[in-house]
Amino acid sequence: MREGQPTAIQLAAYTAPAFWIDTVDLTFDLDPAKTRVLNKMRLRRNPDVAAQPLRLDGEELNLARVLVNGGGTSFKMDGNQLVLENLPEGHDAFDLEIFTTCNPEKNTQLMGLYVSNESFFTQCEAEGFRRITYFLDRPDVMASYTVTLRADKAKYPVLLSNGNLVEQGALEDGPNGPRHFAKWVDPHKKPCYLFALVAGQLVAREQRIVSRSGTEHLLQVFVRPGDLDKTEHAMNSLMASVAWDEARFGLPLDLERFMIVATSDFNMGAMENKGLNIFNTKYVLANPATATDMDFGNIESVVGHEYFHNWTGNRITCRDWFQLSLKEGLTVFRDQEFSQDMAGEASARAVKRIEDVRVLRTVQFAEDAGPMAHPVRPDSYVEINNFYTVTIYEKGAEVVRMMQTLVATPTDSLGRDGFAKGMKLYFDRHDGQAVTCDDFAQAIADANPGSALALHLDTFKHWYSQAGTPRLQATGAYNAAERTYTLTLSQSCPATPDQDRKAPFVIPVTLGLLSRDGAALPLQLAGSSEAAPQHTLVLTEASASYSFVNIDSEPVPSLLRGFSAPVVLEDGLNADDLLILLAHDSDPFNQWEAGQRLMLQSALVAIQQNKDLTGQPVLSDALVAALRNVLRHPTLDAAFKDLALTLPSENYIADQLDVVDPQRVHALRETMRLQLASALQADWQWAWDAHKNNGAYSPDAKSAGRRALSGLAMTMLCVAAVQSGDAVTPGRVYQQFKDAGNMTDRFNALSALVVSGHALAQDALALFHKLFQHEALVIDKWFALQAGAPDRAGDVLPRVRQLMQHPDFSLRNPNRARSLIFSYCSANPAGFHRADAAGYVYWSEQVLALDAINPQVAARLARAMDRWSRLAEPYRSAAKVAIERVAAKTDLSNDVREVISRALSAA
Ligand code: BES
Ligand code: ZN
Repeated sequence: MREGQPTAIQLAAYTAPAFWIDTVDLTFDLDPAKTRVLNKMRLRRNPDVAAQPLRLDGEELNLARVLVNGGGTSFKMDGNQLVLENLPEGHDAFDLEIFTTCNPEKNTQLMGLYVSNESFFTQCEAEGFRRITYFLDRPDVMASYTVTLRADKAKYPVLLSNGNLVEQGALEDGPNGPRHFAKWVDPHKKPCYLFALVAGQLVAREQRIVSRSGTEHLLQVFVRPGDLDKTEHAMNSLMASVAWDEARFGLPLDLERFMIVATSDFNMGAMENKGLNIFNTKYVLANPATATDMDFGNIESVVGHEYFHNWTGNRITCRDWFQLSLKEGLTVFRDQEFSQDMAGEASARAVKRIEDVRVLRTVQFAEDAGPMAHPVRPDSYVEINNFYTVTIYEKGAEVVRMMQTLVATPTDSLGRDGFAKGMKLYFDRHDGQAVTCDDFAQAIADANPGSALALHLDTFKHWYSQAGTPRLQATGAYNAAERTYTLTLSQSCPATPDQDRKAPFVIPVTLGLLSRDGAALPLQLAGSSEAAPQHTLVLTEASASYSFVNIDSEPVPSLLRGFSAPVVLEDGLNADDLLILLAHDSDPFNQWEAGQRLMLQSALVAIQQNKDLTGQPVLSDALVAALRNVLRHPTLDAAFKDLALTLPSENYIADQLDVVDPQRVHALRETMRLQLASALQADWQWAWDAHKNNGAYSPDAKSAGRRALSGLAMTMLCVAAVQSGDAVTPGRVYQQFKDAGNMTDRFNALSALVVSGHALAQDALALFHKLFQHEALVIDKWFALQAGAPDRAGDVLPRVRQLMQHPDFSLRNPNRARSLIFSYCSANPAGFHRADAAGYVYWSEQVLALDAINPQVAARLARAMDRWSRLAEPYRSAAKVAIERVAAKTDLSNDVREVISRALSAA
């Protein structure tokens, strides 16, 4: 990774592989310090490509032997590639045997084969297989795998790999006693990034299931001994995932055995290796005492996500890594739909949608506006690990969602049936292949002839090729005499690195119209005989106008319902219009959005005024009253109320500004929060009392929503109490912290004390640590809460530095590093952006320290400075100095180098 000059890989330079690998037979002698890997492959030349030498990728391997058809052969090294020039000519298959060793216990990058807690794990996506053996490490080479694992029986009683266990037994004793082996055969061809092995002392929760078609399967969740009591929810989520994919898309489990294994050392969330998913413990382990509602929800969606990859990613995979969104965007869309379907009721579905959009807009829109902006299908990259981004994932999912919307028909108004038909055609055409995003879009369009997607497919595909967040301008004109309402939509898209000018996108705009007293008005387009409560306009050009007839009074438009396209909407609605939508919109997304926009507008006005913010009311009386109505509403969901009463984040507010003073944004948001806390104090008291008792814990959406709202109420009550000096409420919150029957309530109480800065917070933090010192995932929360706490007179950084010295802290464990360092650098803008630049100094130290251990994690931390060029002084200059300090290091990994050079190019 540090060797050679980093060169950008270009999509346009794609060529098919010169060789195919049909079968791979791997034998591992597992030893932490020196694992021996015998790799026997059967290869043949690709008849469609001119004859050329075989170039195999390898990294940090010790090469001992290369045999072709059983005999010696000449080879040479070219950088990291093993080059074989004298292979048999012609198109017959031949055998290639390669023997190498590697050192898993020294593998701190956690890519390839590594040791964690005395067990072996692998992580091969995207390019980790080359750290296990020499190979054509590219996703379009799909082979059949046979894997034999050999190891000491006492230390590694469980030996797992992809597919089916076909043989196991004893081997001759080794120096450490009895040894054993297990042989696995994967019945499906796969690219090498889906290879996995696990070996160690693990125990499994098991479940046998019968599919709709009557076939039997064994599901297993492997964890360390002692963690079995935290596997029930993951297993339930897996069973639900299997059932869902069959019911919604007709996609069955294609394996006799499906395994999930948890490890506490993992760079990402989880990995979809065929039949042997490997998970970060964070997304497997949960019981009510240690995990929050959010953890339970995340586990459900990540288990679903990795399981859904079995078809979207594994059966049909990516031709090359530029097509990453083919599997990731599509699979995120599928896991979002799964979570919505699991949530059940319309209101709970809407809550999930709002949460997803919130991530998209705060993180992906920011990415699109910064130096790392790239299309959903990038044109080039230096390090592919840097392109597992919110653009590939979340924007990619929105692109798939728009396809579903664009194949809707009058009888299938959401487009679900049309989309499912498209998926079926995609599998009919491409099962077992490595394909492109174009192939996917073509299949969905071809299955829906005459749909808006089919009619505008070429324009639609600009979503894949163009970076940047489109702006959608909307202006309405009401003609009272003619009783018509004309809506003009126009689009533009700001320049992004390497893309100055953009062609129009296809933008589905779902809308409704409300009268000024809040009633829904029927929509009838001029020239149409049908009237409907809601309609989806499809903008395909720079600008277009649409007329609605039979409109009796000037309407308030509710545009982009359900967030029907990933764009920034500029509709010019004023506060009165938005108050109508907040009170009456039947679309829960837009109802929530109206409240957010009102709060945001108030914030932006106050920020731009050149005056002291403390104590000044920022939110108008009308807005406060409207928010009170939402909070007290008799029928709205608690989960919706929690979202609607939560202020836009500091990062989101900052994103709306050309020049950002993070301290001012923070002060302003704190002022708004205090205002809402005080003005609605009686209402918060009511909300807490009315929602705090939930009986026995269940992670379902409804009870989780009640806990969320009572948690917000606790924070607001503590914020008001700290201001007023009231000691009673914080005392009651502290009591709830101690008495809580589940982690959600306990953590919410702790968080309320910490966030409000109440004196009881220190006692509570100490007690929390004592109670959960043996629960690594809970200790992560303990670090994260402190690193993310609101900054008071610069107190967060000293605490973070002190916590770095805590015996529980470790830079080597990615979860722990993220919980402390990332929570501070990325999730605490006011704590991080200090006028004395000490936050930036800390950031540069940690990027460099992490880069020496784990470049992938270091590069993610490096991105905390993406938006530096929009900072106000003195932050901007100080940030630049810190970035340059990192850039000056000569032996940076390619991962960090790419992020840092892009950041500097933003100046
Ligand atoms: N294929 C990825 C895991 C991965 C990502 C491996 C990057 C190598 C490099 C997996 O399917 C995934 O997307 N995991 C997500 C969680 C998911 C629910 C979005 C992750 O790990 O963050
Ligand atoms: Zn994925």
